[in-house]
Amino acid sequence: MANVTPDPIAHGGNIRWAAKTFGIPDDKLLDFSANINRTPWPRRFEQVLSTSLFNRQDYPDPEYEALRETVAAQTGTCCSCVSVGNGSIELLYALFRSRPRLRMVLLEPTFGEYRRALEMTSGQAIVHRLTASSQWRLDRSTVNGLLQDADGIIVCTPNNPTGRLLDADSVQWLLSHAERGKLIVFDEAFMDYVEDVGAVSSSSRSAIIHAVSGENVFVLRSLTKFFGMAGLRLGLGFGGRKLTASVRRQQEPWTVNCVAEGLGRVLYSPDPSIEAWREDCRRAMMEEREQLRTSMLQLGLDVFPSDASFLLVDVRSWGMSAADLQYKLGRRGLLVRDCSSFFGENATYVRIAVRSSADNSRLIAALKEVCS
Ligand SMILES: Cc1ncc(COP(=O)(O)O)c(C=O)c1O
Repeated sequence: MANVTPDPIAHGGNIRWAAKTFGIPDDKLLDFSANINRTPWPRRFEQVLSTSLFNRQDYPDPEYEALRETVAAQTGTCCSCVSVGNGSIELLYALFRSRPRLRMVLLEPTFGEYRRALEMTSGQAIVHRLTASSQWRLDRSTVNGLLQDADGIIVCTPNNPTGRLLDADSVQWLLSHAERGKLIVFDEAFMDYVEDVGAVSSSSRSAIIHAVSGENVFVLRSLTKFFGMAGLRLGLGFGGRKLTASVRRQQEPWTVNCVAEGLGRVLYSPDPSIEAWREDCRRAMMEEREQLRTSMLQLGLDVFPSDASFLLVDVRSWGMSAADLQYKLGRRGLLVRDCSSFFGENATYVRIAVRSSADNSRLIAALKEVCS
């Protein structure tokens, strides 16, 4: 089977492409390629959708002050250190536009947009290639060497696609480079699966609290994954006041719509029932992830441990490429992420999002069919 992945910076969740490629109606495809929490929302979230729509005729506050205040209160930061965007991706691009020509170390395999955002702002990626044999851990002496010639580093934690969380010691070690003038960007798009947003001020794994006390650290948070709003779009940035102001100057006005803004204020509110929903989502996802991992290991697949809402799977032992497996599952109505855009053509890695128990069982049944 030829490589059917659409383009080099492919993303998961491309249902239109998958429906065409696999000849399956799009409403019959079960998407394991995008890492979205599909747990039903509490009623309170649904209500906010309609109440926020009452504001549809008015422009949103161009400063998004109420939303930024809410986020700052929940995270123990301050309003002038918080930026909001139409997904965290907007803030990543705004950050690099604010500092063009950056030479940044990337720990690949990782999210492809870092490289693209650098290239679009005349910057350059300096790559440290992580390996399966080192469990996708960074090598400090290699990073030290690369940083000599670089302006900074971008670290995704937990990393997409490996699922690996940066340990507290490595977070501190990277922060020490910020003290020496390097720009350290942490993409914590999947951190909500690790710990609650209310725990930021005491966390040793999130860098948010450190970002706001200097000018060389920037942390990205996505609300689209954990809160299941990839289509509505909302992302957050945390940094020092000056850095935050320069990022915000790069943004177009009103990029966050009134519905996403209204939801963001509720999702980050200190309401115990919302905290309980977040906790339930985290616990359920962790249980499903470990169950799914065990089932795939039993089928002879190499499945890496993960701290995120997805699993990286090496299908080499089945004598297939990622594209082969993607196609075979695709024809059965299940879409997984072929990781060739992360690892190169003929790669044997796929990324599988954790879904509900019933959906995961369907995947396991399809995998059994494919391998028999
Ligand atoms: C690691 C990582 N960071 C950022 C993003 C973008 O997230 P958002 O939807 O908030 O723009 C993605 C999307 O897949 C991602 O995987």
